[in-house]
Amino acid sequence: MSQPTIESILQEKRLFQPNPEFSQHAHIKSLDEYQQIYEKAKADPQAFWAELAETELDWFQKWDTVLDWQPPFAKWFVNGKINISHNCLDRHLTTWRKNKAALIWEGEPGDSRTLTYAQLHREVCQMANVFKQLGVQKGDRIGIYMPMIPEAAIAMLACARIGAAHTVIFGGFSAEALKDRLVDAQAKLVVTADGGFRKDTIVPLKPQVDKAIADNGAPSVENVLVVQRTKQQVNMEPGRDHWWHDLQAGASANCPPEPMDSEDMLFILYTSGTTGKPKGVVHTTGGYNLYSHITLKWAFDLQETDVYWCTADVGWITGHSYIVYGPLSNGATTLMYEGAPRASNPGCFWDVIEKHGVTIFYTAPTAIRAFIKMGEHHPKARNLASLRLLGTVGEPINPEAWMWYYRIIGGERCPIVDTWWQTETGGFMITPLPGATATKPGSATLPFPGILADIVDLDGNPVPHNEGGYLVVRHPWPGMMRTVYGDPDRFRRTYWEHIAPKDGQYLYFAGDGARCDEDGYFWVMGRVDDVVNVSGHRLGTMEVESALVSHPAVAEAAVVGKPDDLKGEDIVAFVTLEGNQKPSEELASALKQHVVKEIGAIARPGEIRFTDSLPKTRSGKIMRRLLRNLASGQELAGDTSTLEDRTVLDKLRGGA
Ligand code: WTA
Repeated sequence: MSQPTIESILQEKRLFQPNPEFSQHAHIKSLDEYQQIYEKAKADPQAFWAELAETELDWFQKWDTVLDWQPPFAKWFVNGKINISHNCLDRHLTTWRKNKAALIWEGEPGDSRTLTYAQLHREVCQMANVFKQLGVQKGDRIGIYMPMIPEAAIAMLACARIGAAHTVIFGGFSAEALKDRLVDAQAKLVVTADGGFRKDTIVPLKPQVDKAIADNGAPSVENVLVVQRTKQQVNMEPGRDHWWHDLQAGASANCPPEPMDSEDMLFILYTSGTTGKPKGVVHTTGGYNLYSHITLKWAFDLQETDVYWCTADVGWITGHSYIVYGPLSNGATTLMYEGAPRASNPGCFWDVIEKHGVTIFYTAPTAIRAFIKMGEHHPKARNLASLRLLGTVGEPINPEAWMWYYRIIGGERCPIVDTWWQTETGGFMITPLPGATATKPGSATLPFPGILADIVDLDGNPVPHNEGGYLVVRHPWPGMMRTVYGDPDRFRRTYWEHIAPKDGQYLYFAGDGARCDEDGYFWVMGRVDDVVNVSGHRLGTMEVESALVSHPAVAEAAVVGKPDDLKGEDIVAFVTLEGNQKPSEELASALKQHVVKEIGAIARPGEIRFTDSLPKTRSGKIMRRLLRNLASGQELAGDTSTLEDRTVLDKLRGGA
């Protein structure tokens, strides 16, 4: 990582106070109350988290140590025994919530299903027994590659129930990307579907699984379990592939939850970093259960009567923490939608809100910008009066999009909760508490109690207010990732060594630049490393580069992000070709297609620029900073003295 100059240019002065009536009924009712909790947590984090763990969760056996911190490795609630599927399901069955809607699901074609806590519990138990029957044991890994259907959540909870770790792979990933992840996790079973409905087409999933495991591509995979969703014809390999409904039919609904150690692995979720290989982010059981539970409860002020809808995909961390585990652990009603806004129904989200009386709606800035473009007549034609709170996540939200969301969707009555967090953090880190925190459009506001966030320079020294720097966390928290799967060294290097430990204290840093204003509000400015954020999806530039270089025509590639009105950032690839190749439109589209095949449609470069050579330092490092300037049409700023061959820039400028 080079030392970038982090400049903050945003000056936003609007302030929105919490609505007194909202505050009165909220879990956290005032700024004073937040500050008291915050100070208490800061003074004794272990006591703070222990008290919450005790009051908010069921434990089969209590822990004997709250935190064992051998930097950068943390263990929370050591020797505690717990099962997150018990906390999400069983414990509600002995209360009135037994027949409360746990999951409301809406399919894209208009079919829907509601599962009560008792019904969801039953299906999870059956599937847990099916997994066992297929030879899955505690400690094994299971790959989940699914559309947005209830079975995705059921499969996750069934894994948790028997102590197998899941790795959910986003359904938009290609067969290649799927294979890499199944191999890295050594998955024994893959759960998938014949396909899913999205944007009026069928997204095929089973054929991708077939491709990923063909020719012994993922030798650990013994069985494939297939949900029938679209009734597409799919290939079923006898002995290896099984229909979900066939095995469910014979499965017992009695499956007691496995008592798991608090630190047993709950899941691996792959995320992009600055090298070509995705990182398997490991989350464990007890700490993650507590953190996803309490952050959702306080930041979204979750109440018993809420109908809560998060539009993320279960393939991302937001789907894990805030469609499945957080809401169900709280006994809430969580809504899941299979489809997406599309030409035939650009207003489908507003239909879902009206149909189900959604009260809390959580989406991403890229989606909000798309709604703005589609026009406010779509939401205005529906009744959105049920909404009482709005959330956003994934990238910094531009104040204009914030204001539109506030006015048009929230009817100027719903607080907007802008949540800053990451796959690695497990749950919200910086977020308003809506009954307590005044909001400023574009700011994620204040740290969650127990989170000691700060802005520092590369030496770990705090920077003054309103000066840009690196966003770090000073004390471990229960939801933090524990390691990179199979590579603890990478965990240490990536997150804990960019900024040197100071006075023996380790600082967690995962790649964002930010500033803190005079009120202590955080303004996240985006990534400072080689990660691009396309429509809220994190993509490592190295991953896209590796994909490009794997094409026979390509000699070298450098990938950068450029600002994009809709997606936040778009990918621009600078490519040099092998000697016998000539640049052409056809080759450019073939290369884009190649990236789609290697990674998935989310990584398709918006633009390919052919060039004879790339700007490099004398030590051979590609100077991406210069390419970023070029890609976004800016003047080439900053120091170019380390450039090896200065004529390269002139050629690039000339549109080579
Ligand atoms: C960005 C998603 C500004 C940030 C939960 C972070 C945000 C990365 C916000 C993590 C926000 C997420 N404001 N930036 N409210 N939320 N980000 O792992 O750059 O997919 O590091 O987790 O998204 O993306 P990830």
